[in-house]
Amino acid sequence: MAGLSELEKEIASLSLDEARRELERLAAEIADHDRRYHQEDAPTISDADYDALRLRNAAIEARFPELIRDDSPSERIGAAPSETFAKIAHKVPMLSLDNAFDDQDVRDFVGRVRRFLKFDPLQGVLSVTAEPKIDGLSLSLRYEQGALVHAATRGDGTVGENVTANARTIEDIPVTLAGTPPEVVEIRGEVYMAHADFRRLNERMAATAGKVFANPRNAAAGSLRQLNPEITASRPLRFFAYAWGDMSALPASTQYDMVQVFGDWGFAVNPRMQRCETVEDLIAVYHGIEEERAMLGYDIDGVVYKVDRLDLQQRLGFVSRSPRWAIAHKFPAEKAFTILNDIEIQVGRTGALTPVAKLEPVTVGGVVVSNATLHNEDYIKGIGQDGEPIREGKDLRIGDTVQIQRAGDVIPQILDVDLNKRSADATPFEFPTLCPACGSHATREIHPKTGRPDAVRRCTGGLICPAQATEKLKHFVSRNAFDIEGLGNKQVDAFYQDGLVMAPADIFTLEARDKRSLTKLRNREGWGELSAQNLFDAINAKRTIDLHRFIFALGIRHVGEGNAKLLARAYGSWAAFAAAMIEAHDRESDAWTDLNNIDGIGQIVAEALTEFFAEGHNRDQIDALLAEVSPNDAEQVDASGSPVAGKTVVFTGSLERLTRDEAKAMAERLGAKVSGSVSKKTDLVVAGPGAGSKLKKAEELQIDVISEDGWFELVSP
Ligand code: IVH
Repeated sequence: MAGLSELEKEIASLSLDEARRELERLAAEIADHDRRYHQEDAPTISDADYDALRLRNAAIEARFPELIRDDSPSERIGAAPSETFAKIAHKVPMLSLDNAFDDQDVRDFVGRVRRFLKFDPLQGVLSVTAEPKIDGLSLSLRYEQGALVHAATRGDGTVGENVTANARTIEDIPVTLAGTPPEVVEIRGEVYMAHADFRRLNERMAATAGKVFANPRNAAAGSLRQLNPEITASRPLRFFAYAWGDMSALPASTQYDMVQVFGDWGFAVNPRMQRCETVEDLIAVYHGIEEERAMLGYDIDGVVYKVDRLDLQQRLGFVSRSPRWAIAHKFPAEKAFTILNDIEIQVGRTGALTPVAKLEPVTVGGVVVSNATLHNEDYIKGIGQDGEPIREGKDLRIGDTVQIQRAGDVIPQILDVDLNKRSADATPFEFPTLCPACGSHATREIHPKTGRPDAVRRCTGGLICPAQATEKLKHFVSRNAFDIEGLGNKQVDAFYQDGLVMAPADIFTLEARDKRSLTKLRNREGWGELSAQNLFDAINAKRTIDLHRFIFALGIRHVGEGNAKLLARAYGSWAAFAAAMIEAHDRESDAWTDLNNIDGIGQIVAEALTEFFAEGHNRDQIDALLAEVSPNDAEQVDASGSPVAGKTVVFTGSLERLTRDEAKAMAERLGAKVSGSVSKKTDLVVAGPGAGSKLKKAEELQIDVISEDGWFELVSP
C-alpha cells in the first residue's frame, strides 16, 4: 500500500455526492482555464497546476466512473473535440469496432461475412487476421511526401484534435517515412503506455505532483493531450500502427501485408498479429493472446479480427459506425471471487493507518492477486462520510466472499460482497483506534475546512511510533534522498530494532559508536569486515549532499522530489530555507507570501512545510543531523557562462564516463533541460554507442549530435 498516493487516499474519502460536485466544479474550472489559455492567451495558472486539475478530475473519475460527465475534460478525447486544440477533419472517418464477447459471437461474425460475400468454401479459404486490441487511444497521422504533416486524435470520428507537436515527440512515430511511400499516407494506430513506464511515471508524479494516473490508458491520454509538447516529450508514450485512412495508393492488397509495410516505413507494429484460415484458429489465437496478456507489458482489452483481403473489405463496407469486415473480441472483465482472509493495518511514514485486504490468492486476468486496497475505515464499513452508502452499504467482514476487480495496472479493488455466503457469526471489522505499531491513539483529525473527520486515521505517536520512524528512515536513505548504498529496508529494520539507528542523525554516528562498541557491526550476522567498512564509507560519502536531496529526505508531507527541487532552487541554501519556513508560520509574513509565490508550490505544500518546521522535535532532529551533514548550496545557474543553459538535451545510447542520472544532474546543473525523447524542440543529442532511433530522429531533424567526449569538451570551462 506504500503505492497509495495522498491524492488516492483523499479521493477514497469522497462521498458520491462530494465527487459529483467536485467533478462539476472541475469541469467548469478546467473549461475556464482552457478559454483563458486559448482564446484570451492569458492563462492564470501554471501548466503544472492545470495538469493537477486534470489529474484530479481523472482520478475522481477512475474511482467513480458512473459520475463521468458528458462535458468531462477527459472525455473530450472520445467526444467532440475540445476547445483547447485546433480541429482537424478526418478525410476518412475514424470508425469504431463492433464487439464479440464469446466464441459463438466470433463464429457468427465469420458466418455473416461469408454470407454477405456469398463466399463458400469452394472459393477457397477466407483469411482473417487476429491481433491484440491495445488499450490506449487512437491517433491518425498524415504524411505527405513522406513527411509527417499532422496528427489528430479520433475526436468524434469525423473531427479530431490537432496534436501534431505532441505526436512528434513519440519515438515510435517516424517524422519522415523510410522507403518509398505513396504521396499521401494516413497511418492510424494506438498511443499507449507500457506498464513499466506507467509505474515509473506515477512514482515521479507521486513524488513531484503528489498525484497519479489511475491506469496506463489515462496516463497515455493525459500525456498526449498536453498543451505543452515538452510535457508530452517527458512522458514515455508508445505507438502501434494497425490501420490507415486516406491513402493516395495502397502498397499491398491484404491487411497483413499493409501492416508489414508500415513496419518497413518505420512504425512499430504488433508482433503478435497473425493470419488465420479458420474460425477455430482465430479462437485459438485469442486464447493464446489472453494467456500471454499478463506478460505483454502493456494493457490490451481483447483481440481484433479483420478480413485480410482488402478487396473483400471494400465489398463488405460499413454498418453505421463500424466496418463489417472487423470485430473486437473482448476479454471478460477481470473480476473474480475470493475470500477476505484478514484485514491488515499498515502504518505509513506520515502515520496514516491504511487497511489492506489480505485475500485468498486468486488469479485475475493472469495475475495472482492476494492484496486489495481498502482505502480507509469508512470504505470497510460501506458508508461514506456523510452516511451515504458505498458498495451498496455492505460492510466487509473477515471470512466474507468478495468480488474483486483488477483494472489495468492499478491495485485491485473490492467490488462486492456475497452476503449469501456470509457466516452467521461474522462480525463487522473493528478499525483500531490505537496504532498497531506503537499503541498510541490513532485519530481522525477534523478537517478545518469541511468540519468533518478526515477519512484517514493517523497515529499520534510521531517519533515514538516504530512504524513511522522506520518508514521515515527508509525514505531518508532511499535512492532519490540520501541514497546510501548497503542501507536498505532490511538493514534499517534491523538497526532500528537493535536500537542502533532510531533517527537519521544516528546513521552518521554509527561508525564512531561502532569503534567504541563491544558488539561490532562486522561481527553481526550477515556482516563482515568488508561489508561493514563499505557501509561506513557509503555513509561518509554522503556527509555533504545536494540541498534538494536533503530537503526531500526529511519526508515532509507533500514534499516530493520535484517540490524539493523547487524549494532548493528558490532558497539556494539550507540556512535561507529553514529561516524562511520558520518565519512563514506567520501567515501575515512576507516569507509566507514568498513561499506561496514559488511557481509549483501550492497552499497545501506550504502549510505542510510550515507545520513541519513549527514542531520542536522535527527541528531537534534536523539540528542533530546538521551536526553531521552539510547540505550544499543549490548551485545558482549562471546562464551566461554555460554553453547549454536553456537548451534541451537528450542523452541516448550507453554512456561510459557518466551514469544516466549523473549526466542528467550535470546537464541540469548547467542550466539545461533534459528530455527523454528527441523532438523539434531538442537542441542537442549526446549519443553513446548503441544509440538507435533517437539518434536517427535527431539526424532526420538535423539536430546537433555529439559524443560523450564531445559533451565533456563542450561543458568543461
Ligand atoms: S482497428 C476501422 N485494431 O479500438 C477499424 N483498433 O473499439 C479501426 N484499437 O477506435 C480500428 N487496438 O482505438 C483496430 N489492433 C487494433 C486496435 C484497435 C485498439 C482501438 C481503436 C478503435 C477502438 C475500437
